[in-house]
Amino acid sequence: MQVTIAAGLQIGYDLVGQGNVVVWLHAFPLTRAMWRPQWQGLADVARSLAVDLRGFGESGPFTETPAVERMAQDVHEVLDALAIREPVVLAGLSMGGYVALAFARKYPQQLRGLILADTKAEPDDAVARENRQKMIAFASENSPTAVVESMLPRLLGEWTRTHRPEVSAEVRRIAAEQSISGIIAALQALRDRPDATPGLSDIRVPTLVVVGQEDIITPPSVAEQLASQIQGAKCVTVAHAGHLANLEQPDAFNQAVREFLTRL
Ligand code: MLT
Repeated sequence: MQVTIAAGLQIGYDLVGQGNVVVWLHAFPLTRAMWRPQWQGLADVARSLAVDLRGFGESGPFTETPAVERMAQDVHEVLDALAIREPVVLAGLSMGGYVALAFARKYPQQLRGLILADTKAEPDDAVARENRQKMIAFASENSPTAVVESMLPRLLGEWTRTHRPEVSAEVRRIAAEQSISGIIAALQALRDRPDATPGLSDIRVPTLVVVGQEDIITPPSVAEQLASQIQGAKCVTVAHAGHLANLEQPDAFNQAVREFLTRL
């Protein structure tokens, strides 16, 4: 489905299930489709709102400088357009986590809880920024399929790549349908995102940090550090999962989320 937000921009979304509203924010270079195991598996405890971030899936492109803050504002405007007035649980994985932290800074009164999966608060350092530039150059001359192919060994854990080829196929399938302009805009937003660390001590809502044990992009040590900076946050490590822990081990991921939601 699509909803129209400010300035006529279309945002793709699904709204499924019953319970506390949980807004699911996807990783790069994917779409809301990566959250299917969550909106299906948690439909009895969560009213899941999965949105396509700007430039991905069924959502419109950036018309200004790409930024995670703008993506957070889009989420705020989607909630408004769908007349969801109650505070929500925001769940973001990796890029989605950066957007969730931006939302937490901008709209703390709209938050009921936070789920930060395979993500971090620190900005890109000099090396990471240089790698973003290389990736932008690569994406300018190659297909979305080539982009995701170059990322797969880091996106998915060894265990998944060996034992669950259907997960690799699903990630390839979703990424292959994205536009190069959307991919490049997101890379610019990721490269230029601000340091979210100073805002962590201001977070006042229950927070769950989840990480795949084999995540090499944002490893368990990074997740533990993130949790340690948020008051009362709990950190759960998912075995046999890499960076896309929710897709790689949906049952364990959903179990951690279910426990978190039922305690809210
Ligand atoms: C993601 O999964 O969204 C990306 O790994 C984020 C990033 O590259 O910083």
